[in-house]
Amino acid sequence: MCGMLSAQQVLSGQMAGRNFLLRPPEPSPDLLLSPPAESVYIGKTKCLAMPFFWNSKKLLNPHLCVVGTTGSGKSYFVKTFITRASLTIGASALILDWAGEYSDWVRSAGGRVVSFGKQGINLLDLAGGAPHARMSQVMDSLRILTDISSSPAQCRLTEDAIEKAYVAAGFSMGRPATGKRKPPTLEAVQRILGHQARKSADAAEAAHRIKNLLLSSGGSFTTPTIPLSSLLSGLVCVDLHSLPTETLRSLAGLSILQFVKERMRASDYSPHALPRLFVVVDEAWKIAADERSDVVSIVREGRKYGFGLIVASQSPTDIHKSIFSNAGTMMLFRLTHASERDYVRSSLAYSDFYEEESHSLSVGQALVHLEFSQPTSCPRAFVLRKVDGEEPLVALHLRGGGMNLEFERGEISSRLLSFGLTDKQVSHLLSDFERHSFSLEASQFASALERFGHSRASAISLLRELGASERDLLSALSSHGSKSSVAVAVLEERGAGRQGSKRRLAGQIRARKPSKARTAARQAKPRKGSSRRKKPSKRGKGSAGARRR
Ligand SMILES: Nc1ncnc2c1ncn2[C@@H]1O[C@H](COP(=O)(O)OP(=O)(O)OP(=O)(O)O)[C@@H](O)[C@H]1O
Ligand SMILES: [Mg+2]
Repeated sequence: MCGMLSAQQVLSGQMAGRNFLLRPPEPSPDLLLSPPAESVYIGKTKCLAMPFFWNSKKLLNPHLCVVGTTGSGKSYFVKTFITRASLTIGASALILDWAGEYSDWVRSAGGRVVSFGKQGINLLDLAGGAPHARMSQVMDSLRILTDISSSPAQCRLTEDAIEKAYVAAGFSMGRPATGKRKPPTLEAVQRILGHQARKSADAAEAAHRIKNLLLSSGGSFTTPTIPLSSLLSGLVCVDLHSLPTETLRSLAGLSILQFVKERMRASDYSPHALPRLFVVVDEAWKIAADERSDVVSIVREGRKYGFGLIVASQSPTDIHKSIFSNAGTMMLFRLTHASERDYVRSSLAYSDFYEEESHSLSVGQALVHLEFSQPTSCPRAFVLRKVDGEEPLVALHLRGGGMNLEFERGEISSRLLSFGLTDKQVSHLLSDFERHSFSLEASQFASALERFGHSRASAISLLRELGASERDLLSALSSHGSKSSVAVAVLEERGAGRQGSKRRLAGQIRARKPSKARTAARQAKPRKGSSRRKKPSKRGKGSAGARRR
């Protein structure tokens, strides 16, 4: 029989039970599918188009590592994920925003933005902890972010000075603060080191280091205006981009993470609960690459307390191995450098199939690697067709004349589709909005509809349905094309029973027609306040769909 096929009689019932595709390169459906109320929908798998619902209960831990080259879709994924996680599992999110790329989105999603630089914290604030623990954390931050470790004498002197500052302010080093005693600031530490500077060169150097930090941060680390306890609920973005150096941004980020860690340890132990807070650290290579950083502590202990961490970076090598190989979910977007792919490959031990796939990923596509809480013999990695994202929460505007109509993206899309535009035409028009900072002139809008084969009259009729008043339409469109033809089109649309207004509007056009003298005067002297936004007309107010500003 060797090398030969033999015919067998197999009943169709038996045939149906046979598993032809023995090992699809995807986890089994029971691992990918979950009830929507306890999971976060991400997208469909590439091979079998199976929906993937991220469920922390099925995973080793709720932490996510997101890597990919610039523009590959990391931030888009993070925004989609935390938006849905808040809706489905009620999780809060704290975003440490290095580049200031989340703040607009957080505002439009109804969250709070805290701008470091304009606001600040006192680095020696205890937030419920003991001074000794805070002192160690501040020293850890200085060791991670500055070269203070190269001088053990300076480390010791700085530590002593912090201790003296706490004791002088009436604190006991080993005991958590009680009452309303005010913690010292780094200025006090600098003064103490300054007093010793005459006797010791190391003290002078340490004082100089603290002084530099204080000067460059402009009060951001001494004046506590950010209420730390309000950072852990709802959607909060800590915008660090106004701090002038990477070291200061990282110092602020680390201090917030230290506070998060303390709060996490003080919270209830709930290993099986769904995540209640996601801490997002995007492009924080200085703190994600260091094992002493609190990012690592959150990865190690977060699951027990319902704290998830999302670390995103352009290069996987910027994320410390202990974070990279311990995260329950790995989202690998397109990586261009072979060395980065090798790093991922060696950390996750994935096959040649995925290596080949990872070359051809387009924007929003990713290789997903999951570490399940239960042992499984099926694959733990798969290719995600695309992150099925949330459309950006931006308002689109139609302006012109006195008109300023505001729409949500979905709302105007459906109005355009029911007007008769095709999907392709709608997305074309939406990208026109995007290219013009989400705002189109009514005349541009009408011309686009004409390009798609609709008459000017029906374009005007649509604008009117969207909430434009006759007066606004007239002034928005009259500078575009022949005034009388516009007026006629407007008036034709208003119907035969409204002849009186037709005459009135035609009259308005004649009255507004500039005389030669007036035109010459206007050309000589630009009209004052011509750029001022006109008050919106009240006449279109009641129309469906549009919100007036
Ligand atoms: N799944 C997706 N569906 C639709 N558009 C997407 C998707 N992912 C990304 N995009 C779009 O691609 C662009 C780049 O995405 P994004 O800002 O997330 O990249 P990034 O990886 O964070 O880049 P960087 O490292 O430079 O911050 C954005 O305009 C975004 O709207
Ligand atoms: Mg990004």
